[in-house]
Amino acid sequence: IPVPPFDYVVFGATGDLAKRKLIPALYYRFKDGQFDEKSRIIGVSRSPLSDADFQKAARDSITEFVEKEYQDKKTIDRFVSIFSYVANDVTDEAHWADLSAKLREDPKIIRAFYLAVAPNLFGPICEYLSKRGYYRRDARVVLEKPLGHDLASSEAINNEVASIFEEDQVYRIDHYLGKETVQNLLALRFANKLFEPIWNSANIDHVQITVSESVGAGTRGYYDESGALRDMIQNHIMQLVCLVAMEPPASDDANALRDEKLKVLRSLKPITGSEVAKFTVRGQYRGVTSETASVKGYQDELPAEKKGSRTETFVALKAEIENWRWAGVPFYLRTGKRMANRVSEIVIQFRQIPHSIFEHAEGAPKPNKLVIRLQPDEGVKLFLMIKDPGPGGMRLREVPLNLSFAKTFAERTPEAYERLLLDVIRGSQTLFMRRDELEAAWKWVDPIREAWDASRDAPQPYTAGTWGPTGSIALIERDGRTWHEDD
Ligand code: BG6
Repeated sequence: IPVPPFDYVVFGATGDLAKRKLIPALYYRFKDGQFDEKSRIIGVSRSPLSDADFQKAARDSITEFVEKEYQDKKTIDRFVSIFSYVANDVTDEAHWADLSAKLREDPKIIRAFYLAVAPNLFGPICEYLSKRGYYRRDARVVLEKPLGHDLASSEAINNEVASIFEEDQVYRIDHYLGKETVQNLLALRFANKLFEPIWNSANIDHVQITVSESVGAGTRGYYDESGALRDMIQNHIMQLVCLVAMEPPASDDANALRDEKLKVLRSLKPITGSEVAKFTVRGQYRGVTSETASVKGYQDELPAEKKGSRTETFVALKAEIENWRWAGVPFYLRTGKRMANRVSEIVIQFRQIPHSIFEHAEGAPKPNKLVIRLQPDEGVKLFLMIKDPGPGGMRLREVPLNLSFAKTFAERTPEAYERLLLDVIRGSQTLFMRRDELEAAWKWVDPIREAWDASRDAPQPYTAGTWGPTGSIALIERDGRTWHEDD
């Protein structure tokens, strides 16, 4: 279904995000016929480019980041013809370029400003958009992460933006919410009768969320100031916790959903002071050299002036949600760079059956487990106990009911940004973070960060290509549980 015509103004248009994610995502949507022919994309950035240069850059990004079978010259030609460019140094108010020639006054044309720039520029850009008369009450502003580095800085950014834009105009990106498999969590929980009655502490022993990456981080400029807690836990993983743990919203209305997520964030038991060392583990990867390959450690990747950094590239923690549904059910969360595999998954570990009748069987019943694989190999596995077929006696075996997205659906799985970029135009805020959610997440994360900063301990080392420091294994094993491993 096509979206209404738009003027999409992208600040930071020559940056990495635009090149790798935004332009390819827009291309896929264009190719699917979702653009009205009046839609335009206006790039804004400091580099002195012409329209033709920017169109060439868009072409290059498609060649590099769009799957080959979706690249066709005619479509690409038509697509880049809607691109134009304004060179503008947004840090220099005196020399702000004139955007008025690009912005159309027709009220039917949706106006959206995408700020893919450093967050200290959000406030100045918003203010300037207003001063120059580019603001409209129905315009939208899209904010990329990082939305601050703690509660105070995030409040400051939100205040600056709020002095111009109303909350219903602000779209804060957490690209995990745009992932198909993350949205599928909503379908799984609320479009099936099966799970909801047992989705509680009476039936669930614990929950695990793992987002592991095999890539490193030391060469990413911003990472050393951020670290895994801010980069992944505060946003993506806490959003996943919300979707797993929230009460059923009354509808799919953006605020109905976000109200429920907020309640989860506010029910998280604070981890403060001496509890931080008990319930959290942070790590940093070390290099490894084998006969076939050698991988640098985080420290070795850093520029000279940052050597000795104590930034964590791995975090594991045990969270608890203090409400009726979840009391006593730990949520074990972990994320890291340079881990053994790239895997994002949610594991719902059910409790043991109350009584086993299989005294004489071979193999004891294992508790059921639901594994939701977000990426790669997207799918859902429900581990069940069955009788191993055969003429012998009762032999119990754990077997997964396996729903593989790739095998079930022929379509390409769209990238998160494809959905999110057009939701902005549709005016749907469901998959974007509301200000209070963001701030509640910072409020929970800040004391952990503070305790780490105050501690003399360095992050625990782990070898690149492993599942993280031994402390993270101890964190869960201490409770008589283990991290799920798929075979
Ligand atoms: C980003 C983080 O938000 O998410 C990166 O800043 C991380 O450090 C990335 O690599 C992971 O996203 P995805 O979609 O590849 O899982």
